[in-house]
Amino acid sequence: MTKIRAAVAGVGNCASSLIQGLEYYRGRSEPELAGLMHPRVGRWGCGDIEIVAAFDIDRRKVGRPLEEAIFAKPNCTRVFQKAMPVSNVLVQMGPILDGFASHMLGYPEDESFRPAKEEPVDVAQALRDAGAEVLICYLPVGSEQAVRHYAEVCLDAGVAMVNCVPVFIASDPAWAQRFREAKVPIIGDDIKSQVGATIVHRALARLFGDRGVRLDRTYQLNTGGNTDFLNMLSLERLKSKKISKTESVQSQLDERLDPKDIHIGPSDYVAWQDDNKVCFIRMEGRGFGDAPLELELRLSVQDSPNSAGVVIDAVRCARLGLERGLAGPLEAVSAYYMKRPPRQMRDSEAREHTEQFIAGGPEGENRTEWSETVAVGDYPPGLRRAGQPRAEGARPCGSGAARRRPVRSAPAHRYD
Ligand SMILES: NC(=O)c1ccc[n+]([C@@H]2O[C@H](COP(=O)([O-])OP(=O)(O)OC[C@H]3O[C@@H](n4cnc5c(N)ncnc54)[C@H](O)[C@@H]3O)[C@@H](O)[C@H]2O)c1
Repeated sequence: MTKIRAAVAGVGNCASSLIQGLEYYRGRSEPELAGLMHPRVGRWGCGDIEIVAAFDIDRRKVGRPLEEAIFAKPNCTRVFQKAMPVSNVLVQMGPILDGFASHMLGYPEDESFRPAKEEPVDVAQALRDAGAEVLICYLPVGSEQAVRHYAEVCLDAGVAMVNCVPVFIASDPAWAQRFREAKVPIIGDDIKSQVGATIVHRALARLFGDRGVRLDRTYQLNTGGNTDFLNMLSLERLKSKKISKTESVQSQLDERLDPKDIHIGPSDYVAWQDDNKVCFIRMEGRGFGDAPLELELRLSVQDSPNSAGVVIDAVRCARLGLERGLAGPLEAVSAYYMKRPPRQMRDSEAREHTEQFIAGGPEGENRTEWSETVAVGDYPPGLRRAGQPRAEGARPCGSGAARRRPVRSAPAHRYD
């Protein structure tokens, strides 16, 4: 069976958890697969993803074998898989652009980035040489130019993109169109962790709405001690992250909150926390008879492994997209796995459509009434191209109920 050939841009804590996880789960079977959302997606188990190229800009990572670079400082995530096989992949120098925030120079070396002096490689050529099929983008928040550079490279090399960063590519209509035209699928933007602050906050917001409680105001404060949190001390770099996180919760409300009544974002860098992220959520609402209701929640997680399994799912879905000849944003999959998808959905609906996507069939081809994704390749036998007439006497696949179920997508809102 062919493996999925993936590349990573940014060998930080998230990449470390992901790459450790690929080895940790390799060859395991139930019940040792606990912790994964999907033991299999399509034909691929977790260990069927091979990292064939990696790019970074830090002098402690560039030029080193990938299996060593994932443990190099300033990475500080949990080591749960110490023994790593020899990968034969050396970390290559990427273009720095705006990937490095200068305030990091004021912090100890072990906690912050230190750019290498090497010349950047031609990333598109490096992806071609490695035969990469999917690029996972793990750059720091605020790397607007650098993420766009990697998106360009994906278009150039015909590589699918999983954009884990809150730089808007899949959710930007112009970029989405460029991916369609280049016949390349994309899943983005800003990875939604397994059980992280965003999904918990979204679920609670829905709970209030479904139980008839009116939410008056809410906040979500987050602290952590990894380079992601250190990088986000720069308010300049934080703009899109705040939009992504805030909009992700707003999209689940029946009535949007006034911007003054919702505060969501990374709140401070606490060095001794390392990769432990702590989130505090407060919600104030009114129930029956206008009775006040308050909820306080504290969530403590290991930040990087919390998103790694989700990315492993997304990579396999991107590969399914390639195989099915899909181009542009995979909308349901993005809505399920990402905070800032092109189209927000309720998590239950996004999950249902993602399961259908994985299983195949009309919804599995991502061609429902809500999808703008176009199919560009050859179709598996028996499946129709969008808009193509059904063969005479042919019956629709799947249950009518599933086929026709309308999706209650929240309207997309943009911040100015
Ligand atoms: N649970 C999570 O951890 C989570 C959830 C959602 C989103 N994210 C996002 O994923 C991204 C990665 O997170 P992380 O914790 O691994 O960050 P990190 O700071 O540990 O790693 C970022 C890496 O990118 C490298 N880098 C910087 N500029 C580069 C460039 N131009 N080219 C190549 N490499 C470059 C850095 O040297 C570093 O190794 C962040 O944007 C983060 O906000 C993470």
